[in-house]
Amino acid sequence: MKITNICCIGAGYVGGPTMAIIAQKCPDIKVTVVDLNEDRIAKWNDTDVNNIPIYEPGLSEVVAEARGRNLFFSTEVDKAIDEAQMIFISVNTPTKTYGSGKGMAADLKYIELCARQIARVSKQDKIVVEKSTLPVRTASAIKNILHNTGNGVQFQILSNPEFLAEGTAVEDLLAPDRVLIGGDTTEEGQSAIKSLVDVYSRWVPSERILTTNVWSSELSKLTANAFLAQRVSSINAMSELCEKTGADVSEVAKAIGMDSRIGSKFLKASVGFGGSCFQKDILNLVYIAKTYGLNEVADYWEQVIIMNDHQKRRFSKNIVATLYNTVADKKITFLGWAFKKDTNDTRESAAIYVADDLVFEQAKIAVYDPKVSHKQMLSDLNYLETRTKEENDKFVSSFEDPYEACKEAHAIAVLTEWDEFNEYDWQRIYDSMLKPAFVFDGRNLLDGKKLQAIGFHYQEIGS
Ligand code: UDX
Ligand code: ADP
Repeated sequence: MKITNICCIGAGYVGGPTMAIIAQKCPDIKVTVVDLNEDRIAKWNDTDVNNIPIYEPGLSEVVAEARGRNLFFSTEVDKAIDEAQMIFISVNTPTKTYGSGKGMAADLKYIELCARQIARVSKQDKIVVEKSTLPVRTASAIKNILHNTGNGVQFQILSNPEFLAEGTAVEDLLAPDRVLIGGDTTEEGQSAIKSLVDVYSRWVPSERILTTNVWSSELSKLTANAFLAQRVSSINAMSELCEKTGADVSEVAKAIGMDSRIGSKFLKASVGFGGSCFQKDILNLVYIAKTYGLNEVADYWEQVIIMNDHQKRRFSKNIVATLYNTVADKKITFLGWAFKKDTNDTRESAAIYVADDLVFEQAKIAVYDPKVSHKQMLSDLNYLETRTKEENDKFVSSFEDPYEACKEAHAIAVLTEWDEFNEYDWQRIYDSMLKPAFVFDGRNLLDGKKLQAIGFHYQEIGS
């Protein structure tokens, strides 16, 4: 089937950028992104394209080019489903916070709602593409719902996991390492796969488009994220050993990264990985393994998460210990709140957990992040439900200006690797702080030698 009309359910970090690029590259395909969240859709439609709800380098330019031409954002979910030949599901799949599998299994209620909605609305045959990261065998659940509640309409389900990383979404979408498409081995399944391959072929070389069965595709996504997260936990485990032995974790990372079998990427020691995928996907993997009684497999992967939690906690403990075992009423400045640079996404960001630990010790946290709002920071902390909203309000403030944020602070903690932090006038920052002044570089980002020359007491992950 030649595709001329695509709908995407979910206008978030995955659906928004992915559809913007498809629309840019395929001007003859009408792409409609729908979401229940009216506020989010209004922002996508804001006449000032800089106000779109997701910050990604290069994204506003792509949206400016395609929006109104063949890219549309709307809250009319039913209408868009009805008109489309191909429907992408890009809704969120958070970890369950209740019931069986709580804290581990993916909560599929949004997916199921989507499937039911598609089944109710559809009058013609459609291809449904799962884009959200889903646990293995979700496609069969979607298929069951579609085929048993529908009105004789035929659906083909494809799995097309997203490998874009936030902060580089546009680059990753324009030149992906690979595009993975899983579908049924039947003739109809293969023909659906071809329809989607034809969309990507407009800009992705064919040798980079990989087709598999549905389960391989679903499991590959979880596996890729588990392997990447495992590298971060592995180097973070070494960072603690380096601190004890006098080795330098950046030197160790460089030395092992030059081994072509190991490779140099994803070896940056940090205060811990965050983001919406790593933890969730590994927990999913652990849950699936446990479901099949594979306890050793489950424990093996769970250790990646345990290491990550340890790294975050270790960082806050180090701050308290260094500041003479008391941080009560001390101003501690956070540079960065987002889970990585070049994004306004804060899901599972290490900063949230470090702040939580320090507020527990009654420290006053002053945050500067170039893209994250004060409201978002407080909502992240409140979500943990460790204390009342009023208390979080009292202990956490945020600043528009980094120099103001650092003024009269006892210590600075670098939680996100924003490039601009390296360009600051650190002498000026030092002069405005209480002495002795400390920097805890959780991202191994700043030039430690220079800071020490200025007079800072300086600690970094792995030093
Ligand atoms: C990840 C995968 O990379 C992507 O392919 C998948 O589709 C979604 O999940 P993302 O969560 O956007 O992408 O960010 P990523 O760049 O993978 O970083 C995840 C976390 O690991 C961040 O908090 C980052 O700061 C941290 N990290 C990464 C390190 O601490 N050290 C590293 O060397 C690399
Ligand atoms: P991701 O990082 O996976 O893109 P987000 O949370 O940023 O996750 O985006 C998911 C979006 O999906 C949210 O904006 C949410 O409002 C939307 N959504 C969830 N369920 C539905 C639904 N049934 N219909 C339409 N939109 C939905």
